[in-house]
Amino acid sequence: AERTYIMVKPDGVQRGLVGDIIGRFEKRGFKLIALKLVHATREHLEDHYGDLKGKPFFPGLINYMASGPVVAMVWEGLDAVKTGRSMLGATNPLASAPGTIRGDYALAVGRNICHGSDSVENAEKEIKLWFPEGIVQYSHDLAPWIFE
Ligand code: GTP
Ligand code: MG
Repeated sequence: AERTYIMVKPDGVQRGLVGDIIGRFEKRGFKLIALKLVHATREHLEDHYGDLKGKPFFPGLINYMASGPVVAMVWEGLDAVKTGRSMLGATNPLASAPGTIRGDYALAVGRNICHGSDSVENAEKEIKLWFPEGIVQYSHDLAPWIFE
C-alpha cells in the first residue's frame, strides 16, 4: 500500500492541533504506521527541505521548523500521497480551501501547520530520513471496510 510522510510542524504542536490532525487521517481511513515527537536539528531539516535551498524564505523556514518539536508520522492507504496533500490544503493558506487542515487553522504560508510528501518517491526518501530505525508491521482489521 502507498505510504506518505506527514508532519505536524512546531506551530501545530504548540497550538494543540496534533490530535485533530491525527484524527482526520484516522477517520479518513488511513493506517498509522509510525509516529514520534522530535525536536529536529537544523542539519536534519536542511536535508528534509534540501530542494528549497537557495529560496529566499529558506533560512526563515529552517528557523521556524527548528523552533520546537514536530510530530513525525507515516500514514498508509490508497493514494496516501495525493489524498494526504488534499487533506493539508494549498501551501499558502490564502488559497487553502475551508475543510482542509491549513484552510481551517492557518493564515500565513510561513506558519502553515503541517507537511505532506509531494510524490511517492519523495515520501520514500522522507520516511527513510525521519524513521531510519524502520517501521512496525501490524495488521489493520478495518481494511476490508475501507478498501474494495
Ligand atoms: P510542505 O508540505 O511543508 O513541504 O509544503 P508544500 O509542499 O506545500 O510547499 P513547499 O515544499 O514548496 O514549501 C515548503 C514550506 O516552505 C511550505 O510549507 C511553507 O511553510 C514554506 N514556504 C513555501 N513557500 C514560501 C514562501 O513563499 N514564503 C514563506 N515564508 N514560506 C514559504
Ligand atoms: Mg513540499
